[in-house]
Amino acid sequence: MNKMHPDISRILIPSDRLAARVRELGAQITADYHDRSLCLIAILRGAVIFTADLMRSIDRPMTVDFMAVSSYGAGTVTSGAVRILKDLNADIAGLHVLIVEDVLDTGLTLRYLKENLLQRDPASLRICVMFDKPERRRVDIKADYVGFTIPDAFVVGYGLDYNERYRNLPYAGVLSPRVYAPMESAGDEARHK
Ligand code: IMP
Ligand code: MG
Repeated sequence: MNKMHPDISRILIPSDRLAARVRELGAQITADYHDRSLCLIAILRGAVIFTADLMRSIDRPMTVDFMAVSSYGAGTVTSGAVRILKDLNADIAGLHVLIVEDVLDTGLTLRYLKENLLQRDPASLRICVMFDKPERRRVDIKADYVGFTIPDAFVVGYGLDYNERYRNLPYAGVLSPRVYAPMESAGDEARHK
């Protein structure tokens, strides 16, 4: 069992279940790409922990590259616009590309990435996400590999952050509203200040 951080209201998925699911995804990807090598593209920074675990569960020749994108705006809401902060180091033309992302939420980030990377003529392009929140989708996009389908809650840990914090928690936990809406949940105490 995982020890719970005080800012976490509940543990959604403990670390042992995350690890078991990553091994299953790795085995499935290994089977699906049995005759091909892959190029993993990890999306910084949220997918770093997932990618590090997943790539060691895939028994195929592979390379890994990184991209950083920003969906304008901080906190728990996304504004919709996406821009590239760091592009790939290498050309992906002719490669079997697998995008690795932490969470598929509104879908805006992955739709942008998919369209952008398809223009570079990869031999194939698939998407692997650790968490999927289908209730939140604003554009039509699906991942080819999904670790866990989760409810509409703001989740941190296993690479996912809130204002860059909590990425190092070994489990996926629901962030306490007290952390991102202190005025609403503090009640009288806050109003008296
Ligand atoms: P999108 O809304 O699908 O474009 O997701 C954009 C980004 O929002 C993801 O890559 C995450 O970095 C972040 N995000 C979405 N949902 C969560 C969450 O529950 N916890 C932490 N980050 C999230
Ligand atoms: Mg983030």
